[in-house]
Amino acid sequence: MPAPRSWQSETARLGNAEPSDPTGWFEQLWSSAAHGDITMPWDRVDPHPALASWTGAPAPGGASGTAVVVGCGLGADAEHLDRLGYQTTGFDVSPTAVQAARGRNPGSSVTYAVGNLLDLPPAWAGAFDLVVEIYTVQAVNRSVRDALTAGVRSLVAPGGTLLAVQGAARQPDDDGPPWPLTRTEVEAFGRDGLEAVSIEELAAPGAAPGRPGTWRAEFRRG
Ligand SMILES: C[S@@+](CC[C@H](N)C(=O)[O-])C[C@H]1O[C@@H](n2cnc3c(N)ncnc32)[C@H](O)[C@@H]1O
Repeated sequence: MPAPRSWQSETARLGNAEPSDPTGWFEQLWSSAAHGDITMPWDRVDPHPALASWTGAPAPGGASGTAVVVGCGLGADAEHLDRLGYQTTGFDVSPTAVQAARGRNPGSSVTYAVGNLLDLPPAWAGAFDLVVEIYTVQAVNRSVRDALTAGVRSLVAPGGTLLAVQGAARQPDDDGPPWPLTRTEVEAFGRDGLEAVSIEELAAPGAAPGRPGTWRAEFRRG
């Protein structure tokens, strides 16, 4: 059996191939990984460091309320929030990714679901005290960026918090995927009743000084 190809090169091949269906390629990618044709995309078991340092390490189970992880992939961030005590949902547009997240976390109390930021279930509107979005908006073609950002905002409950972690860009650049966000694009999470609490640019691991880093932005709905 041939060795699996790299998921990064497959992402580059698929990600811009069909601009009229900007999210359709994710299922193809995850399905290729499930069949062993490519290595596993976005494969990590630990929470993203920008999330882990933001939540800190409170006593497991000490948090309360509902949380959702947007574009949850293999579920590491959803599992982290679940351990902290949030009643957690993780959703992804790719059914195969959702299946992989369930398979990787047997017995998990996270609710994993198939869901599309561009067509969210009405029941999820304003339903989550904490919304965590890591690298999903930047993974999708800029043509639907405004709609994706609006979808993320719509999930936040009254009084709730949104944490967005995205690659940083100085200028819009169409040469993705990914398509990192400018500061203006990050600030756009802070509309429709959401206000920015903090917008930080963290240094990207291993990046040369002055290179664009990673946005970690927190918003609150009043
Ligand atoms: C760059 S990956 C990041 C995965 C995960 N958040 C992480 O940090 O490891 C983007 C994820 O978003 C999912 N995705 C893309 N478009 C989506 C959409 N419209 N709605 C929900 N999930 C989406 C993809 O299937 C993929 O799992």
